[in-house]
Amino acid sequence: MNILGIESSCDETAASVVSDGCLMHSSVVASQINLHESTGGIVPEVAARAHLQAIVPVIEQAMLDAKCDWSDIDAIGATNGPGLPGALLIGFNAARGLAYSRNIPLIPVDHIEGHIRACWLNESPPPLPALALVVSGGHTELIRIEENNTFVRLGSTRDDAAGEAFDKVARLLGLPYPGGPPLSALAETAQERQLKLPRAWLRGTNDFSFSGLKTAVLNLLKENDHPAPAEIAWAFQESVCDVLAKKTRNLAEKENVKSVLVAGGVAANRRLREVLAEHISIELRIPPPNLCTDNGAMIAAAAYAHKNNAVNAKSPLDIEPTAMRKKRLRSTETAR
Ligand SMILES: Nc1ncnc2c1ncn2[C@@H]1O[C@H](COP(=O)(O)OP(=O)(O)OP(=O)(O)O)[C@@H](O)[C@H]1O
Ligand SMILES: [Mg+2]
Repeated sequence: MNILGIESSCDETAASVVSDGCLMHSSVVASQINLHESTGGIVPEVAARAHLQAIVPVIEQAMLDAKCDWSDIDAIGATNGPGLPGALLIGFNAARGLAYSRNIPLIPVDHIEGHIRACWLNESPPPLPALALVVSGGHTELIRIEENNTFVRLGSTRDDAAGEAFDKVARLLGLPYPGGPPLSALAETAQERQLKLPRAWLRGTNDFSFSGLKTAVLNLLKENDHPAPAEIAWAFQESVCDVLAKKTRNLAEKENVKSVLVAGGVAANRRLREVLAEHISIELRIPPPNLCTDNGAMIAAAAYAHKNNAVNAKSPLDIEPTAMRKKRLRSTETAR
């Protein structure tokens, strides 16, 4: 089954053709990073206009790269939340129009499930039950995936997401947006590696908190003789990676899962991958960096998992434009 996946929830317009939720034939991503650099973050209206300009060329390129004709596409999957309302509408409406005109199924996809489904791409399915750590720009969550593919959220951040913390601390250090990659590069240049920043363990819970760490960096930078920016970047990254890896390991042991999946933009972080590998002794699956950040292939993979949940392309618009999701993944319950 060939699915065209379309993603436009934030600042990447993306499309991809994937067979059977696994085999990736193309993946085209138009990033708006340059556009949002001057504002140091995303202006939703600007993002929506950029999606509008990019959506048709990106889909056409994904079809060309996959050497596909429209008659080869069996269904279209598109992100319908969470995300920026204007941005979501561009991708989801494009998908609706295409599905209607081709008379093929339209499958709405939860963006966070999409990130996790990147772990199914170009590999055999991970052993279930699994524990997924989602670390993205807007979410930090621990989700149990049952053998029947039910998703149960066990923990989440109480304030900033991990990616958001990287972006905000990078900004404090004078680094460009998005801050994760430059902060990580700066950290690698640190000479002294003695500085220790606080860790919020939130013991007895599966939740995370990164806002105190961000404030600790802010206060440190106010001191006249503060450590070099590279040392602060290194200590910040160590603190985030330490908490993420140990809390994930502890919960994986408690839940007795067979694999740990890591997804979302921060999963591209080299040091996080290293620290996770040190702590996790069962199968650890992390997609290649280009499939950690937003892409259409992960949406196509998630759509395949929900191929029986197609909606009528003519039905009323149903997007979930929530920055922090109140409704969870389709089959998700609240934390245990
Ligand atoms: N190498 C890296 N190290 C740390 N953070 C990174 C790295 N690469 C990307 N990031 C961070 O990942 C985030 C972007 O990831 P992603 O595309 O998954 O987020 P999003 O789509 O904006 O948010 P969400 O998926 O929660 O809606 C940014 O915060 C960025 O700084
Ligand atoms: Mg994302």
